[in-house]
Amino acid sequence: MIITIDGPAGTGKSTVAQTIAERLGFDFLDTGAMYRAIGLEALRRQADLENHRELAFIARHAGIEFDWGHRPPIVLLKGEPVGHLLRGAEATRAASFVAVVPEIRDILVREQQRIGRNRPNLVTEGRDQGTVVFPEAGLKFFLDATAAERARRRVAQLRARGEIVDYQEILAQIEERDTRDRSRKVAPMKPADDARVIDTTALTQQQVVELIISAAQGHQSEA
Ligand code: DC
Repeated sequence: MIITIDGPAGTGKSTVAQTIAERLGFDFLDTGAMYRAIGLEALRRQADLENHRELAFIARHAGIEFDWGHRPPIVLLKGEPVGHLLRGAEATRAASFVAVVPEIRDILVREQQRIGRNRPNLVTEGRDQGTVVFPEAGLKFFLDATAAERARRRVAQLRARGEIVDYQEILAQIEERDTRDRSRKVAPMKPADDARVIDTTALTQQQVVELIISAAQGHQSEA
C-alpha cells in the first residue's frame, strides 16, 4: 500500500511521515529532499535560479538517488550523501525555484513512480504525491496549519539549535514559499480530491501520527 502525505512546510509532515513508516514497517520517501539536492547542486554551480533551462540541465545531470540501506534512506547527489546539507536557508530557497520548473518535475515524478513500483509499501511525503505522482494511492493525507503557527514552530526549532531568528522574517519566508508552491502552473500544491485534510494547528505530532495510523489500520482491515 502507498500512503501519500502532502502539505506545506512546517506542518510536521516529515517527522510524521517518517514515524508512520517506521511504525508500519514501510519504506519512507522524502521527495522534498530530491528538489533540495538539485537546489544544492544549482547553488554549487552558481546557476541563475530564474533560468529554467539551466536548472533543467543541472537536474538531468544531478544523478539523484537514495541509499536504501539506511532508515530513513539517505539522498545521494552523484553518489555523495548530502542529506545533512539540505536543510539550510539557501538550499531551502533554491529548492523552491527548482520546484517550479516543469521539466524537473517530470524527471522527479517519473523517478518517484519508479521507486513506488519497486517499493510497494511506501509512505511518501511531498506536495504532489496524492495528486500527480500516485493518484491511485490507497490512502492520502494533506497536512495543513496556519502560516502563523508554522512560523512559530520553525522559530522554536531554529532557536533550539541556538540560532538567532526573527519571527516576522520567518513568517515572510514561509508565506513567500507557500505562494510559489501553491501558484505554480505545474502541480500546484493542493489536496487531492480524495485526500483527508488534517489541520495540525492545534494538534501535537503524536496526535497526527495516531490519526493516520488508525486510518491506515482501518483501511487495511477493510481490504
Ligand atoms: O518538503 P520540503 O520543504 O523539503 O520541499 C522542498 C521544496 O520542494 C519546497 O519548495 C516544495 C518543493 N517540493 C515540491 O514541489 N514537490 C514535492 N513533491 C516535494 C517538494
